[in-house]
Amino acid sequence: MTEYDGYSAIARVYDRLNAELDYRAWADFFEGCFDRYLPARPELVLDLACGTGRMTLELARRGYDMIGADGSEEMLCEAMMQSALDESLEKPPLFILQDMRRFELYGTVGAVTCCLDSLNYLTGEGDLDACFACVHNYLDPNGLFLFDMNTPYRFTEVYGDRAYILEDELVDEDGGRSEIYCGWQNAYDPETKLCRFYLSLFEQKEDGSFTRADEVQTERCYTLDQIKAALARAGMELLGVWSDFDFSPAKETTERWYFAARAIK
Ligand SMILES: C[S@@+](CC[C@H](N)C(=O)[O-])C[C@H]1O[C@@H](n2cnc3c(N)ncnc32)[C@H](O)[C@@H]1O
Repeated sequence: MTEYDGYSAIARVYDRLNAELDYRAWADFFEGCFDRYLPARPELVLDLACGTGRMTLELARRGYDMIGADGSEEMLCEAMMQSALDESLEKPPLFILQDMRRFELYGTVGAVTCCLDSLNYLTGEGDLDACFACVHNYLDPNGLFLFDMNTPYRFTEVYGDRAYILEDELVDEDGGRSEIYCGWQNAYDPETKLCRFYLSLFEQKEDGSFTRADEVQTERCYTLDQIKAALARAGMELLGVWSDFDFSPAKETTERWYFAARAIK
């Protein structure tokens, strides 16, 4: 069971709106971390908050035995469809509906990945601790936890109260067009450290008219010290924090930090 109810309306078009993200480069970075910090590549990997499964499937294609867990049925549905369509997969991932604050697995895994600021969606008091404790519980001794988070710089200087329009157009074989527009209004509150995203999705139907769906999402801004302290409380050793896939050191003025931590047991 999950009590998370975000990511419903947007799930069907999520990958189209995020098409520019390079999950191959991201998976190369993860494999670079495996080489650096593990004696051998992990056999079983959990992709936590896997969403539509872009990283889960990328790693599965590279031969890892994958579990993808997410709290949104709609996102998991997309992931399962992509998986079913991918004939190159020797071992399709197992996708499970789980809340990342209290997930349960059958056993431990060699690594846990968590991509694209999913952990910033943990907004409640104690949520990050609860999630890190679960990750620690299900990691092998010395198993790796690889995740990223949006930085305070991104919340204050980039998101702020700005509004954006994301758009995509598909042209099918018969020249039929289908456009989508996503209006995205940010509202960051420096007092509560919560950032609300008001999303309005306009999707074109075959007859040219548009449907509209609205969704509100919330992320929390965590400082580097808060993340480090939460890792330590969960029994995790921080191995590195970087600004990019090239292992460049974390800076205050980058928008995303990439972390590697190891479970001490
Ligand atoms: C920004 S998306 C990233 C998805 C995926 N990791 C990717 O790289 O595309 C955030 C994901 O976190 C999931 N999520 C947010 N809160 C959650 C929770 N409490 N438990 C499980 N999943 C959650 C959402 O359903 C969504 O799929």
